[in-house]
Amino acid sequence: MKRKKVIAGNWKMFKTNSEALQLANQIRIKTTDIKATQIIVCPPFTALANVNEVIKESSIALGAQNIYWEKEGAFTGEISPGMIKSAGATYVIIGHSERRQYFGETDETVNKKIKAALENSLKTIVCVGELLEQREANITREVVTKQIKGAFAGLNGADMQHVIIAYEPVWAIGTGKTATPEQAQEVHAEIRRVINELFDKTVADNLTIQYGGSVKPENAEILLKQVDIDGALIGGACLKADSFSAIIHTMENLSNE
Ligand code: 13P
Repeated sequence: MKRKKVIAGNWKMFKTNSEALQLANQIRIKTTDIKATQIIVCPPFTALANVNEVIKESSIALGAQNIYWEKEGAFTGEISPGMIKSAGATYVIIGHSERRQYFGETDETVNKKIKAALENSLKTIVCVGELLEQREANITREVVTKQIKGAFAGLNGADMQHVIIAYEPVWAIGTGKTATPEQAQEVHAEIRRVINELFDKTVADNLTIQYGGSVKPENAEILLKQVDIDGALIGGACLKADSFSAIIHTMENLSNE
């Protein structure tokens, strides 16, 4: 099964406009040899248009880190799907655990945002993952299944062609603790099983499932080698072109094996 391999960088709340330009430029220069791997950079909203100018002639895609589901209106501080599109974005991250934890994102709002993104022809990276206490209570499977059922309620198999799922165990984000390749593979296989149940085998087989949580050049290969891991969503290590590019090259080498 040759699924699309995708390495995405979630810049979170880092990089002013000048810093963003510099980083995007360095990433572009270091990845001109990449053919088999889809690269996505997700800078803050403020840098989207500028970063787009740097990467638009390359194969690097642009993503935003969030959207609101309405088209426009009196929603101070929010950004619509059409607005990120007009800045050059073709992807959007939805339901990141930091949004769930700090900004009240729920499975219902995740679902509304996915629908709004797809209606605007944006592709989505939908994040799921359990908290440490949930893993310790042995309910990872239930937690992730519930998030997936909530996120994709009302969607069909065709919609799922525009969806990437990122499995990000919350206890592994920014902590330096990575899920073991076995732990990650187990949940990825479970996610694929749930998608098969909700849609069908073709949708499940074609779905790109990324791992996220303290991915670095040092641990990328062992994680990306797992059969159900089709890429990574990177936080800390995507803020430097060297480490982001190293992970992209690891994916590329594995794809060409
Ligand atoms: P870190 O790579 O910094 O752990 O962050 C992962 C993440 O949250 C990507 O969305």
